[in-house]
Amino acid sequence: MRTPVFELHIKPMFSATDRDHMGFSLNLWAYDDVVAHADHIIERLEEDMPPTSTGGPWPQEWIDLFRRWAEGARKRLELGTGQYTVTHSASAITVKVIGTFPAAGYTGWLQLESETDTAKTYVLYFEPPDALGEGTPEEFTIKERYSPSDSRTLFIHDSTGVHQQQ
Ligand code: HEM
Repeated sequence: MRTPVFELHIKPMFSATDRDHMGFSLNLWAYDDVVAHADHIIERLEEDMPPTSTGGPWPQEWIDLFRRWAEGARKRLELGTGQYTVTHSASAITVKVIGTFPAAGYTGWLQLESETDTAKTYVLYFEPPDALGEGTPEEFTIKERYSPSDSRTLFIHDSTGVHQQQ
């Protein structure tokens, strides 16, 4: 069964309204806060959060998923790093990242993190294996393609910061 991961399966269940209204006590989009308050969050999800006035309550499957994550490995993604090249052709803009994963069993990908009318930002995510094993860390080539008519400025967010690509 797929191990739930904070950025992929848990954080998207918390709406911007949830995060905003709960800011007085904890940041529902911050891994460390959600881990620190996990038991309390489960309690309130089962009682009265999020309130009906903002679309609550959650379906039972969401609460079960949150519990499975909180009572399991509380897995999260890591920010990766690599060498980037961006090529423009008639059919696509291709962003390519090459590098080596930190240990055997890792996977990685570029994910669109945010976009505006003038900019788009991808994040380079690395997902560790459920259990670190023996073996040689693998080299990777990750590619993301998008329309050549998209002329917005491209940024990549990785473990060293947010960098504009030429
Ligand atoms: C999934 C979404 C949400 C979760 C997991 C959640 C969780 C919690 C938790 C754990 C507390 C107790 C905090 C503490 O004692 O420091 C709390 C309190 C509170 N929450 Fe939320 N909340 C959510 C969404 C919301 C939203 C959308 C609103 C407002 C529209 C809201 C309003 C409040 C208020 C006013 C309190 C303090 C009063 C009380 O404890 O009942 N929450 N919530």
